[in-house]
Amino acid sequence: MCGIVGYIGNQEAYPILVKGLHRLEYRGYDSAGVALLTNNRLNVYKAKGKVADLENAAQDKDITGTMGIAHTRWATHGEPSVRNAHPHISETGNLVIVHNGIIENFAVIKEQLSKDGYHFQSDTDTEVLVQLIQFAVDKHHLDLLQAVGHALRKCIGAYAIAVMDKNNPDEMVVARKGSPLVIGVGKDNEEFFVASDATPIVEYTRNVVYLDDEQVALVKRNEPIKLYNLDKTEADFDIKTVDIDIDMLSKGGFPHFMLKEIFDQPECLKDCMRGRIVKDENGKNDDLKIKLESLEMNAARLLKARRIIIVACGTSWHAGLIGKQLIEEFCRVPVEVDYASEFRYRNPVIYSDDVVIAVSQSGETADTLAAIKLAKENGAMIYGIVNAVGSSIARETDAGLYIHVGPEIGVASTKAFTGQVLCFEMLAMALGKANGNLEQDRYEEMIKELNIIPEKISKILESNDAIQNLAKRFTYAQNFLYLGRGWNYPVALEGALKLKEISYIHAEGYPAAEMKHGPIALVDQEMPCLFVATHHQGYEKIISNMQEVKARGGNIIAVATEGDEEIKIIADEIIYIPQTINWLVPLLSVIPLQLLAYHIAVEKGLNVDQPRNLAKSVTVE
Ligand code: AGP
Repeated sequence: MCGIVGYIGNQEAYPILVKGLHRLEYRGYDSAGVALLTNNRLNVYKAKGKVADLENAAQDKDITGTMGIAHTRWATHGEPSVRNAHPHISETGNLVIVHNGIIENFAVIKEQLSKDGYHFQSDTDTEVLVQLIQFAVDKHHLDLLQAVGHALRKCIGAYAIAVMDKNNPDEMVVARKGSPLVIGVGKDNEEFFVASDATPIVEYTRNVVYLDDEQVALVKRNEPIKLYNLDKTEADFDIKTVDIDIDMLSKGGFPHFMLKEIFDQPECLKDCMRGRIVKDENGKNDDLKIKLESLEMNAARLLKARRIIIVACGTSWHAGLIGKQLIEEFCRVPVEVDYASEFRYRNPVIYSDDVVIAVSQSGETADTLAAIKLAKENGAMIYGIVNAVGSSIARETDAGLYIHVGPEIGVASTKAFTGQVLCFEMLAMALGKANGNLEQDRYEEMIKELNIIPEKISKILESNDAIQNLAKRFTYAQNFLYLGRGWNYPVALEGALKLKEISYIHAEGYPAAEMKHGPIALVDQEMPCLFVATHHQGYEKIISNMQEVKARGGNIIAVATEGDEEIKIIADEIIYIPQTINWLVPLLSVIPLQLLAYHIAVEKGLNVDQPRNLAKSVTVE
């Protein structure tokens, strides 16, 4: 979950590398480092903490050189410290490496290398890898490309690496397996940019090469990239064009990426529907329909699915829970939702006529990637709902939907959640229409309502200040309960996760009816209980759940539907949202929960975009 950057070309590398690290800092921010090659001298600077700390450490130092590699870390092996920070250097001081991933068999290799007289300065698996490459150079007299291949064939685990040899200032070797890696190709091969994703590259070039698993690339000055498979065979590659809008990478005047991304949602959902809600050429005047190419091209397998299994992690798993309700409601096909980390190890029963839907914002989550591979081995079709274009999960799937909400920088996912839910809405409606379970009138009613969801979200965003004031009254809380029923149950889970992630308050989401079976024991004046109690299926039931909590002195916040006067009798605080239809309510009811978590965290003076202990994409188990 680290971020790596590399540069080789005619420009000064340091400013490009540091700017790239800032773009990737959401991937990990425990420590940072840079290595620059100038006049066959390696200058390596490291710092514990953020990229800004690295810039301080490199101040007044020699930061010249037109070739370098850099790293921002999320610690896995070895605590956050300068000693464990990357880049790591080999025994001879010739080779230097940055790495994102985990070498699982590093201890065995380290023991062997120690017997061969190699020494280790850090606790990291990465230092073992660069020493193993050095061993290949020393013992087998291999060049850098061959030595990297030789070493990686001995490694078990995940990696994206960039390696330099101080005695060879004209080439860099990079490789990946499991962790993402992309190479930016400058004009006429004059310069190359290497990074964990395209965000550090797009301001210099939009021509990129995505490495596949177990590929090694030789990046040489003024020469085309040479790509190989780990088995030494040459590999073909395409240069793709990335269409990330650079403005989307800035905060756009908001104090935090998270708040900007919450306010991005109306436009993002319009982008997500663009070209997918179209005029129904077979319909009457202004009839609309859902048009999903991935469905048209894979209708047979999708419509004949014996079962649908949704695999995901974190917020994406919550979107999956809503996807289950939608697909079962509109398509009458059985759906299971699994945490990818559990699915991959529980020896699940997978049939070849099952469809596995993998949901991921980053498209790089290791557990979800592994769950996909397991399902593929069992012949299931893999359908992806992904944000990051060209990501590993997107490329592993047979078909899918990009959610088109643009880069999500804030670690706490917001616009990706509503984008994922919207994709499930459109997929379930299109499947339900195609298999005849969704009647025309309900189909039309939903499409009409979908088209006005973005403006209803804009309406909710107008109560941002009111929610900020409300948040001030809950910064004291040590615990928080989020409760919902039916369509709002996963929203309650998502609200609790948002608060946990960024305010460090212990929050739990529950089906409201479950309270009586235990959690209600937690209720007292100190325990804020947030009910997602919109005027939808199960409304009467949730009102009685609120009365049960009220009877025990609970402090109730309610997310309610505009015009609901009855709820004023029970709730202490109310956040009203516009009316909408059952199946679309999660797209609205989650917004106040995103804002409440955001403002409580800001009131507590916490780093909202980079909360402690977390990272944006979890590329290790
Ligand atoms: C959500 O706010 C978190 N960042 C986290 O739970 C995230 O949803 C999870 O790691 C899955 O990530 P993905 O969607 O990129 O696969």
